[in-house]
Amino acid sequence: MRITVIGQGYVGLTISVFASKHHEVVGFDLNAKVITELNKGISHIEGVASNDLKEAISGGNYKATIDASKIAGSEIVVIAVPTPLDTKRKPDLTFIDSACKVIGENLIGPALIINESTSYPGTIRNFIKPEIEKYSKQKFDHEYAISPERVDPGRADYNQKNTPRLYAGLTPEATKRTREFYSTFCDNLVEVSSPEVAEAAKLFENTFRQVNIALVNELAQISHALGIDVRETLDAAGTKPYGFMKFSPSAGVGGHCIPVDPSYLADVAEKAGVQATFIQRANKVNLDMPKYIVGRVEKDNGGSLKGKKVLVVGVAYKPNVADTRETPAELLINALEKLGAVVTWNDPVVGSWQGKNSAALGGADIAVVVTKHDVVPVAEILKSAPYVFDTTGKVKGAVQL
Ligand SMILES: NC(=O)c1ccc[n+]([C@@H]2O[C@H](COP(=O)([O-])OP(=O)(O)OC[C@H]3O[C@@H](n4cnc5c(N)ncnc54)[C@H](O)[C@@H]3O)[C@@H](O)[C@H]2O)c1
Repeated sequence: MRITVIGQGYVGLTISVFASKHHEVVGFDLNAKVITELNKGISHIEGVASNDLKEAISGGNYKATIDASKIAGSEIVVIAVPTPLDTKRKPDLTFIDSACKVIGENLIGPALIINESTSYPGTIRNFIKPEIEKYSKQKFDHEYAISPERVDPGRADYNQKNTPRLYAGLTPEATKRTREFYSTFCDNLVEVSSPEVAEAAKLFENTFRQVNIALVNELAQISHALGIDVRETLDAAGTKPYGFMKFSPSAGVGGHCIPVDPSYLADVAEKAGVQATFIQRANKVNLDMPKYIVGRVEKDNGGSLKGKKVLVVGVAYKPNVADTRETPAELLINALEKLGAVVTWNDPVVGSWQGKNSAALGGADIAVVVTKHDVVPVAEILKSAPYVFDTTGKVKGAVQL
C-alpha cells in the first residue's frame, strides 16, 4: 500500500520505519532539517536505529519529504503530529489542524485517514473529518479511523510488533481497512466499538500513570515528614502479589504524554459538566514537586541558596533518552534561580538544551539528581558536590527524596 505519515517525530518515524517493511512509505514533515537528515539515513529518534532507516531507504520503501504534493495518491494517511497544551493548559489542536489542511489541500482520491496523535474523544469524528473536508478542493469519500500510539521511546521489550494496538473506524469499512493495514506489522490488534472508546482509553492509560505518580509523590512528602523511608515502604507494599502496582517518586512528570494527556481528558470532562478533580489535583502535586525538592535542599543547606553553585544532574525527562519536553528539571532550575542559586546542569545524553551545553560533573556546592542516565556513574555524581540530593533512588549515599 502507499502510505503517507504526517509528522516524522517519535511516533511518525517509528511507524514509518515499521510500515516500510511491507508498504511504500512517504514520511512528510515541515521540518526541512529533519527531512534532509532522514534521507541521509540519520535517525533523530531513540528507538529508531539509523541502520533500519538506511535499509528502508535503500529498499526503496521509505522517502522523507517536505513536498506536500507527494501526499496526493496515498491509500492511507497516518497523522502523527504534536498535541500539546496551550498557555492555559488546555488542548491545543493547532498541529492537528495544520495536518488536516495539508491533507485536505493535497490528497487526491479517496483514502483511509488514521489519527495516531493523542487527543480527546470525538477528535476524529468532530474535528479531523470536518477540517479535512473543509480544506479539500474536491469532494472525496475518505474513510476515517483512530489507532492511538503507545510507543515508549527508549524501550526495547515492546515495539510496534508486540504492543497491543487499539483501533476503530468511523464506519465498518474504515475499521476493516485499519485492521488490514496494522495487521501487516502488528501481532496484536484490539478492535473497539467506536473511535471515542479508543481515544478515551489512550487518555486514561496516561491519566492512570499521572495520578499514581502524583499519589506516590505525595507519599514521599508524607514519609519524609514521618521519618519513614518512602522507597523501602514501596518495596514492602510491592511484595503484595495482587491489587498493588508500584510507582516511584520523582521530581515530577515529563515528556509529551503524562503531563499533557490527562488535561485533554479533564477539558472534555469539564465541557461535559464533570469536574476532573483527580486529574487537576495530580497535576498540581506533580508540578509542585520541584518546589518541594528545592525547599528540602534549601533547608538542608542552612536555609539559603543565595550564591550557591548548584548542579542539576540529568535534565532529560527520563533515563537514557535525550528528550527534554516538559522536563521537571526546568521547573527545578527556575525554583533554584529564584532563590539566588547559580545553576548549571550536566546531561551527556541531552548535550545541549535551551542554548546551553552540558556542564562538567563537579565543582558544585550542591548537586540535585533529577534523572540518572546509565552512562553517568554514581561515584562521579557523589564526588560532584559535598551535598547531593537524589530524586531518583539510584544514587545511594546521597540525601534521598
Ligand atoms: N512521544 C511519545 O512517546 C508518544 C507516545 C504515544 C503517543 N504520542 C502522541 O503522538 C503524537 C505525536 O507525538 P511525537 O512525540 O511523535 O511528536 P514529535 O514532536 O516528536 O513529532 C511531531 C512531528 O510532527 C511535525 N509536524 C507538526 N505539524 C506538522 C504538519 N502539519 N505537517 C507535517 N509535520 C508536522 C513536527 O515537525 C515534528 O517533527 C502526539 O499526539 C503525542 O501525544 C507520543
